[in-house]
Formats: sequence, C-alpha cells, structure tokens
Amino acid sequence: MRKPILIGNWKMNGSLQANQALMVRVLPRLRMFRKSIDLAVCPPFPYLFQVRDLLGYTGIMLGAQNASAFVSGAYTGEVSATMLQEMGCRYALVGHSERRALFGESNQEVAARYRSVQSVGLTPVLCVGETLEERESDQTALVIEQQLQAVIDEVGLTAMASGIVAYEPVWAIGTGRTATPEQVSAVHQQIRRFFARSAPEAAEDISQTVRIIYGGSVKAGNAYELFSLADVDGGLIGGASLHADEFGTIAGAL
Ligand code: G3P
Repeated sequence: MRKPILIGNWKMNGSLQANQALMVRVLPRLRMFRKSIDLAVCPPFPYLFQVRDLLGYTGIMLGAQNASAFVSGAYTGEVSATMLQEMGCRYALVGHSERRALFGESNQEVAARYRSVQSVGLTPVLCVGETLEERESDQTALVIEQQLQAVIDEVGLTAMASGIVAYEPVWAIGTGRTATPEQVSAVHQQIRRFFARSAPEAAEDISQTVRIIYGGSVKAGNAYELFSLADVDGGLIGGASLHADEFGTIAGAL
C-alpha cells in the first residue's frame, strides 16, 4: 500500500513575515492529516531554518527545492544535500521543469543530483513531464522515459523504489490548465509500465511500490478528482501551497 504524500513547493516566494503568517494558519489544518498522509513543505533555501523551527514536532516534514550533485567545494551558489540534511530536510525536489527549462539542468545533471540526495538519506522527488509541444507531437512517453532512464542509469532501478516521481506536465504548471484525469492516469500508468519493463527479473516490482504524485495547477476544486485516481499517490502543489485554507483543503482530499 503506497502512503499518500502532499508536498508544497513554495518556489521563489515568501518572506520571514509571510512564512510565519502562512505556517501559523496552515499547520492546524495540516496536522489533522499527518497520520494518514505524509506532508512536506519546500521553502526557498534561506528560509529552511525558520520553517524547520515553525514545523517543530508537527510531523510535517521539511523539503528543499533542489540539491547540488556535489558534496562540497568550489560550486558557487550551490547547496549540498549534506547541508540540507543538516538543516533537517527529509525531501528534495530534483529536475523540476523550471530547473530544466530556465537553468539548463540536463537529464544527466538531474540524475546526479538525485544520487546526491539519496546518498545522504534524503528522499528525492524526481520531477518529470512534457511541454505542450512535446505532448502535441505525441512525444510525452518518450520524453518522460528518457528523464526516468537517466536516473535508472545513475542509481539503478531498485534505488528508485524509495524515491518519489512527480509527474508535472509543463503546460499545466502555474497556468490554471490542469491535466484531465484521463491524461494523468495515462501517464502515471505509462510510468509504472516503464518501471515494470525496465527490470522484469527484479525481485521487487517497483512499478507498484514507487509513489507517483501529480503536480500542475492542483487546486481545492480539482484535488478530490485527481487524488481519487488509482495511480496517483499524492500531489506536488505550487501556487495553492501558499494559501493556508486552500492547501489545507487539498490535504483533506488525499
Ligand atoms: O512543483 C509544483 C509546481 O510546479 C506546480 O505549480 O502552481 O501549478 O501548482 P502549480
């Protein structure tokens, strides 16, 4: 049985004051679900300490929005997984489409970041997804399988069982245009079939154990329908995670 998980990705938003106000309002709403689902919030790096302290012993975990492929050294601007682990993070996003599209992170670089996150005991959340152009040219499966294969090549299929995959169609992120339940189910099932095909001899069929979550304009109004899908194990929430009432409602939909 895969335990549902809801992750809030704050992206480059917040302030010390706004974070305090948000957390004071959202934590009472989230705490009531902490036994039935896993919960995490991913603030920008500078706020990790503040949010960790605000999370306290609520059972809601801290996550990071990225992590370096390197452990330490002359990598200006990077933050290592070791540092994130030291700050109390339990999860780290890798390969978010904004990292790939805006900052040029390749499938291979994302895979190296995935390895780095896993090497210090954090749970990587591998973001995969196609652009509208790729979908309209029927390349969705190809693109996502290439993104997954790069990580399999780096860490091996078995290691991915303990990670999380987040399907985020790029054309649904921040647009208000959510993928339909049929589209979401089709891709989540395609990802599971890909894992099953990748190591048919594997002792553990990770296709049924790996958690696959959906992200891309998840709102209070569509969360129930999306999370009711058999192959959806939770959500990766952007904009709505910055609004306490809405994020609390989305948590209740899981
Ligand atoms: O990582 C989650 C994010 O990409 C989804 O953003 O605003 O469409 O929920 P949003």
